[in-house]
Amino acid sequence: KNALANELRSPIICVLGHVDTGKTKILDHIRKSNVQTGEAGGITQQIGATFVPIQTVKDRTECLNQKGKLELNVPGLLIIDTPGHESFSNLRSRGSSLCDLSILVIDLMHGLEPQTIESIKLLKKGKTPFVVALNKIDRLYGWVAHDNLNFTATMKKQTENVKIEFKDRCNQILGQLAEQGLNACLYHENKDIRKTVSVVPTSAHTGEGIPDLMMLVVQLTQRMMAERLAFVDILQCTVLEVKVLLGLGTTIDVILSQGKLREGDQIVVSGLDGPITSQLQHDPTYAVILAFDVKVDKDAQDMCKEMGVTLFTADIIYHLFDNFTAHLAAIKA
Ligand code: GTP
Ligand code: MG
Ligand code: NA
Repeated sequence: KNALANELRSPIICVLGHVDTGKTKILDHIRKSNVQTGEAGGITQQIGATFVPIQTVKDRTECLNQKGKLELNVPGLLIIDTPGHESFSNLRSRGSSLCDLSILVIDLMHGLEPQTIESIKLLKKGKTPFVVALNKIDRLYGWVAHDNLNFTATMKKQTENVKIEFKDRCNQILGQLAEQGLNACLYHENKDIRKTVSVVPTSAHTGEGIPDLMMLVVQLTQRMMAERLAFVDILQCTVLEVKVLLGLGTTIDVILSQGKLREGDQIVVSGLDGPITSQLQHDPTYAVILAFDVKVDKDAQDMCKEMGVTLFTADIIYHLFDNFTAHLAAIKA
C-alpha cells in the first residue's frame, strides 16, 4: 500500500459529441491508428477504450512543453470513445458516468447539434468536468495546414480572412454554449479553469491543436483531481460491454478505475444457477476481458461476500446487453 501512496492512476476520459463531429478520428490521430475508416458507414456503434501511455503524450505535446514546465505524473490517459448516433444514448450515458473528465467534440462548421446538447445535459447531471474540442478547423475556407502544430502557432500563420471566419464561427458557438448555461472561452484565454469551460480548436485530419488538447486534458486532471486520481488498492470496476468472442464465449469488457488485477486472480460473476468463476488469463494494464456465461443468481452476492471475492453484478450486464443488441438492430434497420 505504501508503494502506491504517491502513485496516480490514469484519468479516464470519455469522448462525447454529435455524430460525425470527429470523435473517433481525433482518437485515431492520437494513437496513430485508423479505426474510423473501418467502421460500418463510418459510424461508431460501440464504446471502446484506448490506453495512451504518458510517453505518447510527452512526444505529441513537445511543441508546447519545451521548457518542461509541466510535470506529467499520470501513467497515461485511458480514453473512451462513444458513438454520437442518436440511438446510442445509453452508451453515452454509461461512458460519461464512469469518466473523470470528458472531451466534448463540436464540429466548428455545424455548431451545437442535438447530441451535443444531450451530452452537455449528461455532463451537467454527473457534474463531470469537460473541455470542448472545436474540431475540423482545417475546413475553414483558405486554411493552410501545418501538420501537428499547436493551435496558436498555426492560427498565427493563417490569412486575415481565415482568422476572421474562425473568430465569427467560434464566437457563435460560444454564444450557443452560453444558451446552454455554459461559460466557455478559448483555452489559452481561460483565467478560471474551474468555472469556465476551455475550448480547444483542433483538426483530426492535420493534427493541428491536438497537442493543445492532450496537454490541457493532462493539466486539468492533474490540477483538479489529484485526490480523485490517487491510487488505492480497492478494486473498482465498471462493465462497459458484453460480447461474444470466438473461442472465449460470452465476455465482458470492464474499465478498472481503482485497484489492481493480477494474472491468476479469481473473478466471480453472479449467475442464474449460482456463481460463475473465471480466472484472469493475463496481466492486464488497464482493461480486462473476462470470460463467463451470462446467468443470474440471487444468492450469488452473499456467496461472494463469504468467499471474499469481487462481484460484478449481472443486472448491469443484462441491461447493457439488451440495449446494445436493440441499438444494433435499430442502426441496421
Ligand atoms: P460517430 O462515432 O459516428 O458519432 O462519429 P465521430 O464523431 O466518431 O466522427 P468520425 O471520426 O467518424 O468522423 C466523421 C467524418 O468527419 C469522417 O469522414 C472524418 O474523416 C471527418 N473528420 C473528422 N475530423 C475531421 C477534421 O478535423 N477535419 C475534417 N476535414 N474532417 C474530419
Ligand atoms: Mg466515432
Ligand atoms: Na462517424
